[in-house]
Amino acid sequence: MKKIKIAPSILAADFSKMGEEVERLERCGADLIHCDVMDGTFVPTITFGMHMIEAVRRHTSLPLDVHIMCVRPLNKVSDIVNAGADIVTVHAEACGDALKDTLRFIRSYGIRAGVAISPDTPFAAVAEYAELFDMLLVMSVYPGRGGQKLIERTLAKAEEARNFFEKTGLERDIEMDGGITEENVASVKAAGVNVIVAGSTVFHAPDMAKTIQNLRDIR
Ligand code: DX5
Ligand code: ZN
Repeated sequence: MKKIKIAPSILAADFSKMGEEVERLERCGADLIHCDVMDGTFVPTITFGMHMIEAVRRHTSLPLDVHIMCVRPLNKVSDIVNAGADIVTVHAEACGDALKDTLRFIRSYGIRAGVAISPDTPFAAVAEYAELFDMLLVMSVYPGRGGQKLIERTLAKAEEARNFFEKTGLERDIEMDGGITEENVASVKAAGVNVIVAGSTVFHAPDMAKTIQNLRDIR
């Protein structure tokens, strides 16, 4: 089993004190900082872009795991990487024919490339590109906002991906994002997920450090 990493999503943080929020995540034991870039077109909401990434970068040495929910993500990659991203994940649905080029372009910066699939996109849509990405992000909610309920049927896709990576001998991280709680995290891990994104669960916790620890330890 690959090392479990906890990636709190700053979408659920207090945006008026983002620096402190990110420092708090680091003190409380987060492994990665998950940053949701949304453009208001690929998804209905607008969140933030390179300036926020740059600001977050100044407050932590943790790797920044940037999840781009934008149309034509290829156009956004340079700015996001220059702002300090360590992993850049793009949606297969947003890339169309440019998926290969986009993944190659991300890797050309010497950083890790991720590909995200929304709940209605099968793993088969991206399996053939597995050589070109380092991480698969299986969305367990429809992208666009935090605080939704995990869609159970998406777990089967993580399992399918895990089996595929095992069979092909490819070392790939599998990340899941959306609706993950202390109650369902065991089933998420059992499906082969090793990178756990959590927004509401971490930021609404009475004891953030304990909740991050629980998300890591619960089996
Ligand atoms: C949703 C975002 C998620 C979101 C998760 O589109 O990609 O990262 O912040 O939030 P929770 O954990 O509250 O579902
Ligand atoms: Zn996300």
